[in-house]
Amino acid sequence: MNHLLDLAESAAAKAYAPYSQFQVGCALETESGHLYTGCNVENASYGLTICAERNAIFRAVAEEGPGMKIKLLAVVCLGNEFPPCGACRQVIAEFALSDERTQIMFRQNGIAVTRTIAELLPDQFALSV
Ligand code: THU
Repeated sequence: MNHLLDLAESAAAKAYAPYSQFQVGCALETESGHLYTGCNVENASYGLTICAERNAIFRAVAEEGPGMKIKLLAVVCLGNEFPPCGACRQVIAEFALSDERTQIMFRQNGIAVTRTIAELLPDQFALSV
């Protein structure tokens, strides 16, 4: 499992973050067992910035199609520590497995912690379609 944190760390080194200097990487394993990575990509028009997590998730959808589900997702920021931002939590929820089978990993005080999406985003917004 910690392998995914190492992959996320390698992905962070690829970040395009000239404005914040926050180099963030994400690695995820899908239900089908494939691995995808992503980094944050910033823009001079700040709001166009994409987080590492959404970059990795959208790559996974582009490869596997709309049925892609996240089994395990890890996020790492070089020289810093944080869980996924609120926007990314909502996107993780969109592609999470049922019954809390998706795990989200990040470091806290150097220690890897895992959370479910219900823990990170309780009472989540969903369309009843
Ligand atoms: N960032 C991420 O990539 N993931 C997060 O969950 C939080 C923030 C990026 C966006 C921006 O490039 C930089 O970190 C500072 O907010």
